[in-house]
Amino acid sequence: MFVCPVCKGRLKENKFGYSCKKGHRFDTAAQGYVNLLSAKHAPESAGDNPMMIKARTDFLELNAYRKLAETVAEIIAKRTCAADAPEVLDCGCGEGYYTNIYAARNPKANVYGMDLSKSGVKHAASKARELGLANVRFAAASCFELPFADRSADLIVCTFAPVSNDEYARVLKKCGSLVIVCPSPKHLFELKSVIYDKPYLNQPNDYKLKNFAPADSVRLEYQAHLPSQKAIADLFTMTPYYYKSPKEGVERLEKLAELDVTCGFDILVFRKK
Ligand SMILES: C[S@@+](CC[C@H](N)C(=O)[O-])C[C@H]1O[C@@H](n2cnc3c(N)ncnc32)[C@H](O)[C@@H]1O
Ligand SMILES: [Zn+2]
Repeated sequence: MFVCPVCKGRLKENKFGYSCKKGHRFDTAAQGYVNLLSAKHAPESAGDNPMMIKARTDFLELNAYRKLAETVAEIIAKRTCAADAPEVLDCGCGEGYYTNIYAARNPKANVYGMDLSKSGVKHAASKARELGLANVRFAAASCFELPFADRSADLIVCTFAPVSNDEYARVLKKCGSLVIVCPSPKHLFELKSVIYDKPYLNQPNDYKLKNFAPADSVRLEYQAHLPSQKAIADLFTMTPYYYKSPKEGVERLEKLAELDVTCGFDILVFRKK
């Protein structure tokens, strides 16, 4: 359950939103998310902007990454320490596509999606309502200052989002697991081959996880067909290449009507040391 970003006391859910014993009150927005960002983050401008969230939503709704969501949902089912009502956090959940699948596939779990982007959690919460999911909550919050008590979570999943050794170790129970999803070397290689004259394979990240030990890893690689220029453009907009691509490469990409791409993910599972 969420804790108060001001005094760190437990937040109780009520008809307007949440409040703590000291009287700090956080209203739930009309779309169903709560803003638990502390004063040092600027809620209006933080995280992915509405244009990026819309592109991500439109792309993810094609279900090209559904296999990834389902594979992680199975890992969550196996890895949570509490048998009844495990607490699962999706840190940097974006627009909630994965979070809502984790909640639907793990009905006993209490699933929480957090992102700096208010547009992201706004979309995520309204989609959860549309899907009738009662076991998922969304908050605007930072991965580096999670609104959770020490040792309260069974599992944290972090997909293409910031990883914090200290904060994730603080919040996870002793038996907790951390699941990081990152691109495999060949992820989107065909897209990069259109944009760049010399495309490189993705290099592994060093997450500097001093409080975690590797427990398992799964590489998921498959081909997806992007059936339209809009699908290609949406995918491109949600990649880091959107910000650092040569003009000629982008023009080549804009001329394509369809594209087959490798979707490649490394799912890294860690246990708390
Ligand atoms: C590449 S997106 C991934 C979103 C989602 N996990 C997905 O795979 O569709 C990265 C997300 O991290 C969010 N983000 C960036 N910094 C963050 C932080 N410090 N705390 C929480 N979220 C953050 C962004 O707003 C964005 O939604
Ligand atoms: Zn409080």
